[in-house]
Amino acid sequence: MQDMSNTQHQLDQIKVDILKKNVCPDLAKTAQQLVMGAGDPDANIMFIGEAPGKKEDETGLPFVGAAGKFLDEMLASVGMHRDQVFITSIVKYRPPNNRDPKPEEKAAFLPYLLQQIAIIQPTVIVPLGRHGMEYFLPGVRISDIHGQLQEIEFEGRTLKVMPLYHPAAALYNGSMRQTLKDDFLKLTQLLEAA
Ligand code: URA
Repeated sequence: MQDMSNTQHQLDQIKVDILKKNVCPDLAKTAQQLVMGAGDPDANIMFIGEAPGKKEDETGLPFVGAAGKFLDEMLASVGMHRDQVFITSIVKYRPPNNRDPKPEEKAAFLPYLLQQIAIIQPTVIVPLGRHGMEYFLPGVRISDIHGQLQEIEFEGRTLKVMPLYHPAAALYNGSMRQTLKDDFLKLTQLLEAA
């Protein structure tokens, strides 16, 4: 059992660090604020998206737009709420016009994502889409391994990773939407078994 308040304090410190080091100054100029992530600092599941969008940039909260509503729906379908998990993204500033994050932006934010993982120590990492996945599972396509549990070595321990399609990609694609829901069910079954 981790000390919650201490865990939250450590997470807050990451934001202070990013601001101090002026990470991705160009993005910092066009974005309104950092979107660090939200949820239970002691969560078993950690979702990793791509980058904040417009709504996230306005509110400072992850996944609060249309894709986030779908994520909330999927959590609700298995009796869960976003407060019970931790949700973040690889890049923590909104890219202008929601363009894809650049490789150098993902690289600049990676150390901070790894710090979040080291602090939260989730049972399973759930990348949402390829940008959240590529560091953990380089060279693989999400269409080949979505919904399949992978195990990787991370800081001297085995880390479970289950990539899912990004909810934004699945929003208006009926078959991908169903696949994502099916994968979500597998994720919760895995956690029950753990
Ligand atoms: N897409 C993401 O990857 N992250 C968000 O916070 C919102 C949309």
